[in-house]
Amino acid sequence: MNHARTVDVGGEIPYTITIGPGLLGDGAALARHVRGRHLLLVSDSLVAPLYAGTVREALHAARPDLAIGTFILPAGEESKTLAHFGHAIEALATLGATRDACVVALGGGVVGDLAGFAAACWMRGVDCVQVPTTLLSMVDSSVGGKTAVDIPQGKNLVGAFHPPRAVFADTAALATLPPRELRAGLAEVIKYGAIRDARFFQWLEQERAALLAMDSEALALAIAASCEHKAEIVARDPLEKGERALLNFGHTFGHAIETEQGYGGLGNDNLNHGEAVAVGMVLAARLSAELGLAPAADTDRLEALLAGYGLPVRMPAGLAPEALLARMRLDKKNLAGRLRLVLWRGLGQAEVVPDVDESRVLAVLSG
Ligand code: GLY
Repeated sequence: MNHARTVDVGGEIPYTITIGPGLLGDGAALARHVRGRHLLLVSDSLVAPLYAGTVREALHAARPDLAIGTFILPAGEESKTLAHFGHAIEALATLGATRDACVVALGGGVVGDLAGFAAACWMRGVDCVQVPTTLLSMVDSSVGGKTAVDIPQGKNLVGAFHPPRAVFADTAALATLPPRELRAGLAEVIKYGAIRDARFFQWLEQERAALLAMDSEALALAIAASCEHKAEIVARDPLEKGERALLNFGHTFGHAIETEQGYGGLGNDNLNHGEAVAVGMVLAARLSAELGLAPAADTDRLEALLAGYGLPVRMPAGLAPEALLARMRLDKKNLAGRLRLVLWRGLGQAEVVPDVDESRVLAVLSG
């Protein structure tokens, strides 16, 4: 395949992330990771009409003996439910999937998380190949094996760690990504610079025009750099016992915003995940400055970069600070009922801060 880059994820269950144009049609590469004769292709109602046919045909050409089932979710975060998870499991049962079956997740984070969770649970775990089609899922959710569904009390509260066998990020698929979704993905790209790589942050400041214009080389570089950062972290800490928590910079605030506004996103005024994380990163940086951990000038630089990429940097109107704080108390990073947040010492230097004073958080949430 032309121009494909690879990033290896080490650790107990190593796998490779392949990044480049045209991977969706590379049946031989995809089929290399299918051990048995059953494959469930999971996608959603927006992505399937665009790409499911290509993937099915490519797989069929490479492996005519494969029994390929298809399970299509309604597009949107609202589908990441236990009910839809149950339907995916039923699809595996209908397919007669055995222990060597493979689930292929074709889509964004919702598809990847739900399909990965179904793969983690079917017969106590079958293979999953992640084929992310959004920038957000290419640089974050498809890598590292976190799988989950949402419940009304919060995002991703029911799930499992289940690393994929392989990840294929077809950069040509980004051509059909709405600009708002591209910017949401760039928020997670910016996160890697913010938490551990000031030089990458500076590169993102310089390459803004190219990335927003979807320059394919700049995008591929940004994806590969992001995946390298994530790969290094998850190889050392796959189960988030330590440094993996740094990947959640801005996420505790962001998840609270998302949950409080009711999991919005596509096609409405609610912030989507990347947008909520953008606001959350600014709040985390501001709290760090208020606590005397980091220079306020770094908050300004982060805010300017996010705003320059067209991302929101202010709390949406109408959300009650107390309600947001109540959501934050349910975050999975908290221990012994104390707020544990990812803050920073400044650009490129995130750290986990245990036992953050709730009144200081409330002050930042109140603006
Ligand atoms: N999205 C954060 C992580 O994978 O740990």
